Order: sequence, then C-alpha cells, then structure tokens
Amino acid sequence: MSHDQSFPPPAAWARDALVDRRRYEDLVALEARDPDAFWREVAGRLDWETPFTKVKDVSFDLTDFRIRWFEDGRLNASVNCIDRHLAARGDQTAIIWEGDDPAASRRITYRELHRQVCRMANVLKRRGVRRGDRVTIYLPMIPEAAYAMLACARIGAIHSVVFAGFSPDSLAGRINDCDSRLVITADEGVRGGKRVPLKANVDEALEHAPGVETVLVVTRTGVATSLKAGRDFVYEAEAAEVADDCPAEAMGAEDPLFILYTSGSTGRPKGVLHTTGGYLAWAAWTHEAVFDYRPGQVYWCTADVGWVTGHSYIVYGPLANGATTLMFEGVPNYPSLSRCWQVIDKHQVEIFYTAPTAIRALMREGEAPVARTSRRSLRLLGSVGEPINPEAWLWYHRVVGEHRCPIVDTWWQTETGGILISPLPGATTLKPGSATRPLPGVKLALVDADGRPLEGAGEGNLCLTDSWPGQMRTVWNDHERFLQTYFSTYPGKYFTGDGCRRDADGDYWITGRVDDVLNVSGHRLGTAEVESALVAHPKVAEAAVVGFPHEVKGQGIYCYVTLKAGEQPGPALEKALVDWVRREIGPIATPDVIQWAPGLPKTRSGKIMRRILRKIAEGDTANLGDTSTLADPGVVDDLVARKRLEP
Ligand code: PRX
Repeated sequence: MSHDQSFPPPAAWARDALVDRRRYEDLVALEARDPDAFWREVAGRLDWETPFTKVKDVSFDLTDFRIRWFEDGRLNASVNCIDRHLAARGDQTAIIWEGDDPAASRRITYRELHRQVCRMANVLKRRGVRRGDRVTIYLPMIPEAAYAMLACARIGAIHSVVFAGFSPDSLAGRINDCDSRLVITADEGVRGGKRVPLKANVDEALEHAPGVETVLVVTRTGVATSLKAGRDFVYEAEAAEVADDCPAEAMGAEDPLFILYTSGSTGRPKGVLHTTGGYLAWAAWTHEAVFDYRPGQVYWCTADVGWVTGHSYIVYGPLANGATTLMFEGVPNYPSLSRCWQVIDKHQVEIFYTAPTAIRALMREGEAPVARTSRRSLRLLGSVGEPINPEAWLWYHRVVGEHRCPIVDTWWQTETGGILISPLPGATTLKPGSATRPLPGVKLALVDADGRPLEGAGEGNLCLTDSWPGQMRTVWNDHERFLQTYFSTYPGKYFTGDGCRRDADGDYWITGRVDDVLNVSGHRLGTAEVESALVAHPKVAEAAVVGFPHEVKGQGIYCYVTLKAGEQPGPALEKALVDWVRREIGPIATPDVIQWAPGLPKTRSGKIMRRILRKIAEGDTANLGDTSTLADPGVVDDLVARKRLEP
C-alpha cells in the first residue's frame, strides 16, 4: 500500500473552518512579530477576575530556571468552565453521559452542572478540604468525576485523578506521594457489563495510606459496601445537607490546578503538576482550533478522565468553551462492535476523538459493524496517544468517515497539558501517519544524540526550545527530578522522550519513545514499574522488561524473568506471574510474553543491555549488533535459542 498519499482540506473545510489557511498564516505571523500579543489572544478567551499584565517569564537555563505564564492574573477554572456560560447557555447540555448499558444516558445542563459542582465543593469544605489541599479522585466514567474535578478547582484544592483501572497498590502510592487526606470514589464501576469493586480497592489501598481521613463514596450501582465509621461517607447523603451554591476562590494563574501521575523511564510514577491560567487557556484554545469547535456541536472524546486526554479534552477544554461534551462509561465492543457508531448516531456526534489502538481493534473485526450505522452527523475525526499506522488511518478515513471527515492526528503528552503538534482541519494537508505541523507558538527542534539541532529533513530526538502556556511546572515534591528528567539531556531545551522524523515538506512523523517508557494501547507505562512488580514476587530473582511491536496494542509487554535458585519455570508459574503484575499495577500492565531467562545480557559493569533484549523480543535476532562488551556473551545465545522455542 502506498503511504505517500496526502489529503488537502475538503473545499467546505477550507472555506468555513475557524482556522482556515489565511487565519493560520495570520496567527503564525502575529506570533513571529509580537509573541506577547499572540499569547494575550490565547489567554484572552478566559474570564480573568484580575487581568494579567505580564504574559510570560520563562528560562530553561538550569541555573536560572522558571516557567511562569500570565502570573499576575487571577481566575477560577470552574467559573471559566461553568458560571460564565450560565447567562447565555444555562439550559444547554454541558455533559451527555452515555452509560455502559445502552439504555442508560443522561444530559446535564450547564445550570445543573453548576449546582452539582457547588454541592460537591461544599461537601469537600465541610469535610475540611482547604485551598491547596490535595484530593484523590478514583472514580469511573460518571458525571461525578467531572463534578469532583471542578469542585476541587472551585475551592482551590488540587485534584489528583487516579485511573480507576489501577490497583490498590498503585492507588496507595499516588495517595501517599501527594499526601491526600480525602479520597472520592464510587461503590463500584461498570464497564463492558462487568463490575469493578472500587470501594473495596480503596479499602485495600488505605491499609497502606494512613494519612487519609475521609472517603466519599458515590453511589453508582448501589451494591452494599462496608463503610468505616467516621471515615467513609455516602456522597449523596452528604450532598443533601449542603447548599447548591458555593463561591469560587480567586486563584493565581500559577496556582496548582491538578497533579496527574505518569510513568517515566525510571522509578515510580511522577506527579505532573499543572497550574491554572496557562493550562486552561491552552486546553481551551487548542480544543477550539484543532477540533474547529462551534457552540452547539456535540463532541466526543473516548478517553478516560483518569488520563490527561480526559482532563484536557473531556473536561477542561470543552467546558471552558461552553461545549457539549460526551462522557462514555463503557467500552467500544460492548454490547456489540457497533457501539461507538451507535453512540454517534444516538447523540448526533459531530467530532469524534479516539486512540489508534481502538481503531486497530475495530478494524480487525471488519467493516460490517460500522456499515450498519449512519454516522452522517460526523464532520471531524481525531487520533491521540500513540503513532497511528497509515493502514489504520486510511481505514478510519474511508470506513468511519466515508472520505468526508478530516482526521487530526494530535501529538502531545501528560507533560504538555494540551496538543502541540496537529493538523488544523481547514488549513493543513493531511498525510496518514503524520501529526504534520506544530501549532502556532510551539517551537520544535529535532536534535541528534549530541544535542545538535538538525536542519531540514531528518530524524532525531524531539525537543521544545521554548515554553507554551500548558507546560507542566514541576514534579510534585521533586523539582530536581523535573529538571533532571526534562531539561538536563539537552541543556536549554525540554526533551520529550520521543523520536521524530521531519520530511522534506516540513511535516513531523513521531516514531515513538526513545526511552524506557512503553505505550501499550495508548497507556503509558514504565518498564521499571513492571520490573519492580515482577521482582516483588517471591520466586523471581531478576527481571527485564521491554516493548515489542503489537498489532493491536501498538506495543506489547515482553518480560525476561530469572527465577531464584531452585524454582522451576512452567506454565503455572507463568500464569501466576501475569496475574501478579495485574494485581500489583492493574490490568493495563498485563504482560504479553514471559520468557524464562537463566541469565540476562549485562555489560561488565552490570548494566542490562536492553537494546539486545528488544531485538530478541522483536524477533530480529539476526541483527543483535555488537555483543562483545557483554560480561557473558553466551547468555544471548541461550535467550535466542529459547525465543525460537516460543510458539
Ligand atoms: O510517545 C508519545 C505518545 O504518547 C506519549 C505521551 O503519553 P501520555 O503522557 O500518556 O499522553 C498521551 C495523550 C496525550 C508521547 O510521548 N503519543 C501521544 N500522541 C501521539 C503519540 N505518538 C504519536 N502520535 C501521536 N499523535
């Protein structure tokens, strides 16, 4: 199949888009001529209680480091997402909730959202939460997840949403790291017809998180859960006792809005900290420009609120723009493989934003489940989270969008807060597999291993040479780690951890992580986390984990495991280890392959040579490269021989 096709904007898009070619060029020119004016325009879309006078104060120099945007302005994120819309669109739907069960859906207006968020804010206050306190949110995809985030924002508390698929142990680690004293959860979650015991998970987590004083339990299924007296409270009972109005705290633009934990190449997940003004401005501006969002349109991002995509493009960006945002509790293949397309028809969705892994999984099932539905309401498709292979892109374009809908392949990260590289559907010629160009104001560089910038076409490591308002400000409680991780590899630049190619037209093609971070079904996972889960098993002496190409997941998890002396490998232990990792981290970390390894390839100084392990996992054993620096080259032959025995 030819991969060099390109798709200019359809005529109607080129004519009618919010950002057409001309507007795009004007924005780029404005930014070049007067960057402050450009950024003032970006942030000017928000309601500021005290307008900012300073736009930007940034230095990536480690001796004089700072990132500050709009710093003397004051605002409240929940006011920007709710209150300011009440006069014009109080009765408009803010959130369409589509339940796991196709018979269950609900519409929440901006007025209702205001009441619900105020109530939750008042409950938090009554339970002692103050400005600056951390609140952990461990909820399924129900409207209360959005209420909880916005309620924290309203009173100046910092939320930390933990994906409800994470294990009790992962939850405890995240609670402890930011010293949350209050957790908001639900009795159970419901996904794909199955129940998830969230409250029971919290109970287990709290055995290792002694600082938590209060748990609020939202009723989702009504199952009986044990409530610890004085600690656990049924949310609805609490909410019935408070007022449905709550004044909003005026926050500094640089006051924290939330912490979101994400995986790095080493150590435990880091608490990425985002602040109020810059984050919200960037989420809102990019949501409007990239998705060409117009008031009244129904917009659906399929992410979970536990990931950054859910934060920026289900909750903050869309609501700041007064949008109607769809929140889906279920999964794409329940109760049938047509579910996504049925939801689109049911709610007349115009903009649909999902991950390549979902597209690949549905593509494998053929066109029939798609063809059974209309999808006439769709105008625009989006992709996020991992590189999209051209086959999946072309299928999405032809089968789902019937050649009519542009696809925006949006590159960004938890750290970036919002989209940085993406086509603008009315202005950009699309190429399947390329995220195309940086948005106006985004300063990219590709550098070689020594940090030298590459000019023209070529491949290198992707960096940003200057800040943008949505940039993370620090790692919670570990500023040194923030500087080390992102700013020390290439001095003066933010290093993304991604490799990238620039073609002769100047379009960017993300090639994937160049560090030890995995991207499994669009979920980010550190190899070190899986390794430390494995070695915590009593029979495991050592483990090394690498990614390998996986047809649906993008990357699969390949584990080399060395057992302790006297332990016998076998299918039963293999299954036990897979279950163990699922329990330690969560189902997203389920190993795909366990290979028994009597020894691991190490340098003479004891460093595991992952390059070689990756090659073996990929099945590329003919190109193992130089193994002469290994302490024991025989180890590699042994691993290769065992690999061949794999079915
Ligand atoms: O490797 C890139 C990949 O996902 C990483 C960021 O993961 P996370 O922080 O979990 O955020 C995911 C949602 C924004 C990046 O370093 N990635 C994300 N979007 C794309 C992508 N890779 C290629 N193309 C994309 N559109």
